[in-house]
Amino acid sequence: MNAVTPTAAADALIACRGLHKWYSGVHALKGIDLDIRAGEVLGLVGDNGAGKSTLIKCLSGVETPDDGTIAVEGRTVRIGTPKRAMRLGIETIHQYNSMVPTMSIARNLFIGREPVRFGLGGVGLMDQRRMRREAVAALRDVDLHLRSADALVGELSGGQRQGVAIARAMHFRSRLLILDEPTNHLSVKETEKVLGFTRGLPAQGVTGIFISHNMHHVLETCDRVVAMARGEIVLDRRVADVGIDELHAVL
Ligand SMILES: Nc1ncnc2c1ncn2[C@@H]1O[C@H](COP(=O)(O)OP(=O)(O)OP(=O)(O)O)[C@@H](O)[C@H]1O
Ligand SMILES: [Mg+2]
Repeated sequence: MNAVTPTAAADALIACRGLHKWYSGVHALKGIDLDIRAGEVLGLVGDNGAGKSTLIKCLSGVETPDDGTIAVEGRTVRIGTPKRAMRLGIETIHQYNSMVPTMSIARNLFIGREPVRFGLGGVGLMDQRRMRREAVAALRDVDLHLRSADALVGELSGGQRQGVAIARAMHFRSRLLILDEPTNHLSVKETEKVLGFTRGLPAQGVTGIFISHNMHHVLETCDRVVAMARGEIVLDRRVADVGIDELHAVL
């Protein structure tokens, strides 16, 4: 008998149904059914190789699932490319930083969305002045006070880089911000700042997915926790109803 497909929650911003992903011989996602509800911060946990990054790559258009569907606010979509994901309001801070260290903060903020001004002869020119102005405002909005939007991202600390990435998501009014292990290699102080940003997402009208190996961070930051093991979801609970021992036990 076929398994019954669960109905999406009424407040589901994203609904994944039956997602499968194979990497040649590796079955990385084995039929994932998951709702991400509008206004929640969802913690996604699991051992190395569980499939967390693969799942969020399917949501951010970096990978295409081999089977299954993804719906955004009830409408089935083919995400396909990172640009399309952005247009759907899905912004991702990837595990291995998605910024270009040799480009300025301002350029990085606008990657894939550069405002174009038409110069003489109709050649599209990036509107540098506008990018710089908006970059400064976007950084200020997330309480990041950097000297100049012209500084290279490669000169920033890990925490400042994550701050720029978060500023980017806020500035473009993303509906969903996915953070894949955003606190790796950060100092205690920088980690606290990133956790604070993440906790503050719902107040800004942004839904979040927070991936971490640190269960304390997940319990402090998220509303709900989903645990994956070997390509499947093995636990899905409200943070208020789950203990750290229980989380460790399923991983
Ligand atoms: N590009 C790829 N090519 C081949 N196999 C891959 C690729 N990306 C991931 N995999 C495999 O898919 C499985 C899931 O990997 P994934 O990166 O999603 O795990 P993860 O839960 O994010 O782990 P981690 O906590 O270590 O980041 C693993 O077995 C991994 O080796
Ligand atoms: Mg990963």
